[in-house]
Amino acid sequence: NRRVTVRDLATAKQRGEKWSMLTAYDALTAGVFDEAGTPVLLVGDSAGNCHLGYETTVPVTMDQMVMLAAAVVRGTKRAMVVADLPFGSYQESPAQAMHNAARLMKDAGVGAVKLEGGERSARSIELLVEAGVPVMAHIGLTPQSVHALGGYPVQGRGDEAAHQLLRDAKAVQQAGAFAVVLEAVPAELARQVTEQLTVPTVGIGAGADCDAQVLVWTDFAGMTAGRVPKFVKQYANLRAVLGDAARAFAEDVRTSAFPAAEHTFH
Ligand code: KIV
Ligand code: NA
Repeated sequence: NRRVTVRDLATAKQRGEKWSMLTAYDALTAGVFDEAGTPVLLVGDSAGNCHLGYETTVPVTMDQMVMLAAAVVRGTKRAMVVADLPFGSYQESPAQAMHNAARLMKDAGVGAVKLEGGERSARSIELLVEAGVPVMAHIGLTPQSVHALGGYPVQGRGDEAAHQLLRDAKAVQQAGAFAVVLEAVPAELARQVTEQLTVPTVGIGAGADCDAQVLVWTDFAGMTAGRVPKFVKQYANLRAVLGDAARAFAEDVRTSAFPAAEHTFH
């Protein structure tokens, strides 16, 4: 049983077959999604805010990404595992990007890496692809730039910004990216990008016309505390399920209802 490859995803676009991607940060959760048939799992640097307790993705380190990505690879059999290059691990130079992409492939065993930026990252993408590293690009809203953007605003609004997004999409495709994440862009613009590219677009907050859709697993499963973004659909309510379980356990212990005879050795 082989893993999903970049060629499978190229074929899917030709056939007009849409696919889903979920984030994963540990072997256990990744194994559940792998068994469910999710073809691509992203070890996102969203681990920063969704798994490690930081406010943003900015503090995430290469050592953390390697540890999380290795766990996701170990926990899966079929999915393509893509890992993010975190902030500061690739912006200095194409050589730095290659060094850290190689760590993710050799030390964690991932099948592809993802990095943020369109035209600004094209040279690095080109070097990685020449070296045999499959690269997923990420344009539109790029959360590693949260401090420069002053938050997480929708991108590509207005003619100027829309043209820049199209240029970014074409630049990363030209550089050899096998897929492009479009984050927080108007649906009409995401459709245009999807039509103009030969490689698949993976939307998050980018409307229904992308070739694929990605959600952060803690958002889609209802694990996130507080409000989730407008583009999230909650497919489960794990936070409530686990909270109820913890309260029921505590109550059983308090009343000596647990452990019962069937849980006890003699
Ligand atoms: O880190 C992440 O989860 C991502 C997805 C939102 C695409 O980059
Ligand atoms: Na990310």
